[in-house]
Amino acid sequence: MGKLLNIISSLHKKTNRDYIGRMNDDKVECMKIARKYGEDYWDGDRKYGFGGYKYMPGRWEPVAKELIKKYNLTENSKILDVGCGKAYLLFEIKKLLPNCTIVGLDISEYAIKNAKEEIKDSLFVHKAQDPYKFKDDEFDLVISITTLHNLVINDLHSALKEVERVGKNKYVAVESYRNEEELFNLECWALTAEAFFNVDEWVWLFNHAEYSGDYEFIFFE
Ligand SMILES: C[S@@+](CC[C@H](N)C(=O)[O-])C[C@H]1O[C@@H](n2cnc3c(N)ncnc32)[C@H](O)[C@@H]1O
Repeated sequence: MGKLLNIISSLHKKTNRDYIGRMNDDKVECMKIARKYGEDYWDGDRKYGFGGYKYMPGRWEPVAKELIKKYNLTENSKILDVGCGKAYLLFEIKKLLPNCTIVGLDISEYAIKNAKEEIKDSLFVHKAQDPYKFKDDEFDLVISITTLHNLVINDLHSALKEVERVGKNKYVAVESYRNEEELFNLECWALTAEAFFNVDEWVWLFNHAEYSGDYEFIFFE
């Protein structure tokens, strides 16, 4: 098993979230719309998802720098992002290491179409749980940021297996909880999540899938 890291939690904590407000705002309908991962989810009203996920210069840069340092990434490195969305993190990595190879996959056609023009060629629509076209250990680093908790448990298991297979190093960040309050907040906030697991359950699942990479948990405090 890999290590518990603390790379994206500070970014996650920068956002204010009205948990009760979301729970009381026609949430079931919002979940149905969010789960299409279309325009509404990314760039529509906040009740459907991001509420407008625009590129903010520098926002993902500290995360990119941290990953480069932690995994000794160089201009020769190959990095895969599973559930890359609009791939702002891959974009930041590519800015810092212009000759490295980046690849991103995501279920959302809208996100890939609306990713930064400069890196669009490196992204493709694919489900995290379906077999990847890549060789074993093809990537120096596979990352998956706040994506895998959106999968049902059998798909989650398949996705972890693929992440493990194609990456020499790997780092996944998922939503979790440590107490009743965080579980409640997570349940209020989540539109697309299928996996509501506490920390021990995630670690059990990582072991069960023979996932040997690093991980981080996002909490809703
Ligand atoms: C919270 S967003 C995170 C996106 C990106 N990693 C980021 O941090 O900006 C969750 C992402 O999971 C993707 N997703 C959900 N289910 C998926 C699946 N089965 N396979 C691949 N991507 C999926 C969504 O399209 C979305 O891009």
